[in-house]
Amino acid sequence: MALKLEFAPLATPPKGVLIVFCDEGLKFGSATRQVLAPAGDLVTRAAAAERFKGKSGACLDIVAPMGLEVARLVVVGVGKLRDLKARDYVKLGGVATGRVPSAAAEATIIADLPGGAPKPDAVAELALGARLRAYSFDRYKTKRKEGDDKPAEVRITIAVARVSAVQKAYAAREAVANGVTFARDLVNEPANVLYPEEFAQRATTTLKKLGVVVEVLDVAAMKKLGMNALLGVGQGSEHESCCVIMRWNGGKKGTPPIAFIGKGVCFDTGGISIKPAANMEDMKGDMAGAACVVGLMQTLAARKAKANVVGAIGIVENSVDGKSQRPGDIVTSMSGQTIEVINTDAEGRLVLADVLHYVNTRFKPKFMVDLATLTGAIIIALGHEYAGLFSNDDRLADRLIKAGRSTGEKLWRMPVGPEFDKQIESKFADMKNVGGRPAGSITAALILSRFVDKTPWAHLDIAGTGMGSPQTDTNKSWGSGFGVRLLDRLVADHYEK
Ligand code: BES
Ligand code: MN
Ligand code: ZN
Repeated sequence: MALKLEFAPLATPPKGVLIVFCDEGLKFGSATRQVLAPAGDLVTRAAAAERFKGKSGACLDIVAPMGLEVARLVVVGVGKLRDLKARDYVKLGGVATGRVPSAAAEATIIADLPGGAPKPDAVAELALGARLRAYSFDRYKTKRKEGDDKPAEVRITIAVARVSAVQKAYAAREAVANGVTFARDLVNEPANVLYPEEFAQRATTTLKKLGVVVEVLDVAAMKKLGMNALLGVGQGSEHESCCVIMRWNGGKKGTPPIAFIGKGVCFDTGGISIKPAANMEDMKGDMAGAACVVGLMQTLAARKAKANVVGAIGIVENSVDGKSQRPGDIVTSMSGQTIEVINTDAEGRLVLADVLHYVNTRFKPKFMVDLATLTGAIIIALGHEYAGLFSNDDRLADRLIKAGRSTGEKLWRMPVGPEFDKQIESKFADMKNVGGRPAGSITAALILSRFVDKTPWAHLDIAGTGMGSPQTDTNKSWGSGFGVRLLDRLVADHYEK
């Protein structure tokens, strides 16, 4: 649904679908009581008939409510008032927006609670939830279903106590919503549309407008730098590989940046070690890590984050061709370390090895966090609710876990270290690119760890969360945009002082 979101004073007469909140005692705020007064005991009777108790996220729908000049009244439960946290407001915004029928053109959400109107920050979170829920990727749907008279746009008005304070608080949340939207779009795009050059182009045009410095390294530039691990992955594709470096300088001049690195495999066939056909179409999303980094850079720039931030993504296509790399090939990475490519389907680590080393040596960042749809094994270990977190630095890991809790983009820490070294010993090179079936996600992370030197580093394996994760109140999209909210939170909480 195309959403137009507006804020208006509490006294604005509601139109279309009216959405209000109540707590577990079915209590309303005073502004809500005023709006509902003409309906008499309608809500109480409907609640009793439906056994609606106001539990968090539960809804009571009343069509054409007598006494009110709206088409539909939706009462959304918020549960126990004192338990409400920021991420609950995001969820409630999603729940409320999800109750607006697709045929409706207008809705009003009254941002009011029994304890009084929520703070501007909380209302901004509510609005963020509405934006995230309203996202849909339908640009390739040219036909409508019969009897479908969807309006082109749904206007949702959030009625609030202090319009200008809410607008101010929402500015930063809107930047987050736009960043998540951009990331989701990139993940959802098919690989015939979004190949490396097109990906780089979209990142460049969007970010430059916001004042981000963008550089694109082409194949020639990467050859010069010796990024042969990355180049080997892309050498069998008609589409040339590239690497995009994005810099947002919102912090003090001269202070070292923080860095985010993403795996951007626009399509992963597996290469010569080709993947089975079932679900191979999902591999158009093998660039979710890179999409997150681009969405994050957009968010940070749009909200003018007071931090120096580097984003870097390696964008390639892993294809099958006479020029493709073969099992047994040995590549010399930019760091000088050699890697024997046992399985061409373990390509993400090869791409990241060079991008991590490049960022580390060029920018000497305070820390590096990489995101990658790196292993199927992380889905076996953690499913689709938690992303795997691997780190050489406890403080960075703890901060990430905390940001995960507060945004709902949850992380679970996994071990990584020299105990696993022997699994990736190679007969011919410094290491091989796979460590066998046991601990598959860990040996993948271990390879990455060899390219970060002593710099604090964390790796997020988002194979289970970046795409095809369970739908939630704030995400109905295949590409979830996982990581944008998490890392925006990390930056805001710790790196903008
Ligand atoms: N892109 C895949 C990992 C993946 C699998 C992401 C399923 C999302 C859903 C990655 O490049 C890959 O193929 N990994 C192999 C590694 C193996 C060959 C050691 C895997 O997980 O099977
Ligand atoms: Mn692969
Ligand atoms: Zn891959």
